[in-house]
Amino acid sequence: MQEKILILGSSGQIGTDLVETLRQKYGSENVVASDLREPAAHILESGPFEQVDATDRARLEEVVSKHGITQIYHLVAMLSATAEKMPMKGWDLNMESLFHTLEMLREKQFNRLYWPSSIAAFGPTTPKQDTPQSTVMDPGTVYGISKLSGELWCDYYFKKYGCDVRSLRYTGLISYKTEPGGGTTDYAVDIFHKAKKDGSYECYLAEDTALPMMYMPDAIKATIGIMEAPAEQVKVRTSYNLAAFSFTPKQLAEAIQKELPDFKISYNVDSRNAIALGWPQSIDDKVAQQDWGWKPDYSLEEMVKEMLEKV
Ligand code: SER
Repeated sequence: MQEKILILGSSGQIGTDLVETLRQKYGSENVVASDLREPAAHILESGPFEQVDATDRARLEEVVSKHGITQIYHLVAMLSATAEKMPMKGWDLNMESLFHTLEMLREKQFNRLYWPSSIAAFGPTTPKQDTPQSTVMDPGTVYGISKLSGELWCDYYFKKYGCDVRSLRYTGLISYKTEPGGGTTDYAVDIFHKAKKDGSYECYLAEDTALPMMYMPDAIKATIGIMEAPAEQVKVRTSYNLAAFSFTPKQLAEAIQKELPDFKISYNVDSRNAIALGWPQSIDDKVAQQDWGWKPDYSLEEMVKEMLEKV
């Protein structure tokens, strides 16, 4: 069967990269991009785009039926730092849009849903090193609470109604095509732009705050990988741990200095550091490796080299 894919949140950091890869793989006409915001010109020119507010169920149903959608990648979210500033808005956006797609999946308006969780679903008393797949989860941010709740709802819809919903706990994601917005891990993208432009960067996380991170091509590979895996291999229906590498701002700066020896980093710590301190420092993803064969391609050094070339 020819899959018809709808991407919600296609103008965001993940969406922009995912639309491109999926269009190459499935054919441009079979991948519908959608967002509230105007997409980049190349997305608009390379295939169908629909303006969609993911909290508007009637509009979602209209687009799904118009294009005969079989799969949805739901990438709409208010990220951690922004949601702390407007908790109710963050909760409503993150949960309403998820419930609309889960209900439409239950009603068989389409067949398969991808919805991302995050390291933010863990919390201050979660083991920080090699955080296991199943462990204490006590998120301390609105975004994290929405991700943990969402994971449990996905699992519920799978167990209760047999809905084919699949999910990954993303780490911080590093990419050059679109800048992230409102996250705690955004520094790891900004730093490359400022390194190239100004030769220096002022970081809002402390120099020794370690976080798990991943280069976008690996995140896209994982996302499409779990969506294409045979259903019986996707045993975890909350969300899978996923890992590539971890670093502190100091370690990232040192890796950049190997390429740009004059690069300088300084620190002006803000409230985002407290958010980061409540998250894991490294992730154990062997369950994803075992269940559906996940493996990242990029090391920290390879990511740094490529980012400096491409930003
Ligand atoms: N990158 C996200 C954030 O910082 C975490 O999922 O909010």
